[in-house]
Amino acid sequence: MTILVTGGAGYIGSHTVVELQNAGYDVVIVDNLANASKKVIGRIEAITGKKVPFYETDIRDREGLNAIFEKEKIDGVIHFAGLKAVGESVEKPWEYYENNISGTLTLVDVMRKHNCKNMIFSSSATVYGDPAFVPITEECPKGVCTNPYGWTKSMLEQVLSDIYRADNEWNVVLLRYFNPIGAHKSGTMGENPNGIPNNLMPYITQVAVGKLPHLNVFGNDYDTPDGTGVRDYIHVVDLALGHVKALKKFEPGSGLNIYNLGTGVGYSVLDIVKNFEEATGVKIPYEIKPRRAGDIATCYSNADKAAKELGWKAQYGIKDMCADSWKWQSQNPNGYDE
Ligand code: NAD
Ligand code: UFG
Repeated sequence: MTILVTGGAGYIGSHTVVELQNAGYDVVIVDNLANASKKVIGRIEAITGKKVPFYETDIRDREGLNAIFEKEKIDGVIHFAGLKAVGESVEKPWEYYENNISGTLTLVDVMRKHNCKNMIFSSSATVYGDPAFVPITEECPKGVCTNPYGWTKSMLEQVLSDIYRADNEWNVVLLRYFNPIGAHKSGTMGENPNGIPNNLMPYITQVAVGKLPHLNVFGNDYDTPDGTGVRDYIHVVDLALGHVKALKKFEPGSGLNIYNLGTGVGYSVLDIVKNFEEATGVKIPYEIKPRRAGDIATCYSNADKAAKELGWKAQYGIKDMCADSWKWQSQNPNGYDE
């Protein structure tokens, strides 16, 4: 089976390509390198010992996508390609809607023209908004997103659901990720944010490596055990393996399926600081700052549905996630840049 991975040079995509190749799938990558380095391709091949065809193509480029589908025999698509910076999406809503929504519409159109109707889509826990209850099951109603990035995920879930309803030959899997962190065990692949990181773990690792002076903790007055925000952090390799398991929903007639991919455990910001220090021996100085606009207090999953239906469960604990993030950052202080 040949899987086209859009955004396969990115953080989650690159780890998923490795696990797909390890599981024996043929993989083709399409990525416009808007937020990735071409060096990732070599790192993937060094880990798996297999070549991976790479197309530097934008998913909004219909002719480019057509050429890929004509050359490679694609059985299904895992669709990661998209812009994902929450704050930037507030500044540049048009760019986010255009890239994420137009890109997906073009991709789906090219897929159906080539009679390829199997799609796994990267969604996010952000579609639950401020969740109606925790732990969050897939039954939890979708909520009000606080930024355009989140709306692109919520809207694209709707678009893909409607496409399935109009044509039941489609198999659509919506995977709602919680907070991916960690890196490949080799220390050769990991998250490579542009500029100052927005997310907690890359910020912590940049403090640890001495690029940033201290962590800013955004609020300690939430209704949580220590007052700081609680999230469900999941090792990126576990997340990647969830995609491999989800391929079973490409069996004809599988229909539309939605799964949370999380660990089911919530950790606060200060829990993460403590676990990082214990796992790595590196001290993380921090300062308490006001809340960040748009943040919620608590978000963690109930991932029982993925366990029951896909046979998938996250294996790595928080110490592994911290140690692996640190291995990547300390071995590659400038990410994929020399
Ligand atoms: P990433 O930025 O590392 O990967 C996305 C990749 O898509 C990048 O390599 C980028 O170059 C590529 N891309 C963007 N627009 C493109 C286009 N028009 N054509 C071709 N390629 C394009 O991000 P990631 O963390 O690996 O996230 C992967 C997916 O998972 C995204 O859709 C993201 O929204 C979603 N997601 C991420 C998180 C998270 O916290 N990292 C959480 C939930 C959902
Ligand atoms: N935080 C800090 N300091 C920082 C960065 C983050 O205290 O420098 C705190 C936040 O306030 C929050 C927690 O750490 O309480 C996690 O924040 P992240 O930015 O790492 O992650 P979010 O939960 O805000 O958002 C992430 C992704 C979104 C995705 C969402 C739900 O960035 O794309 O998870 O899946 F939509």
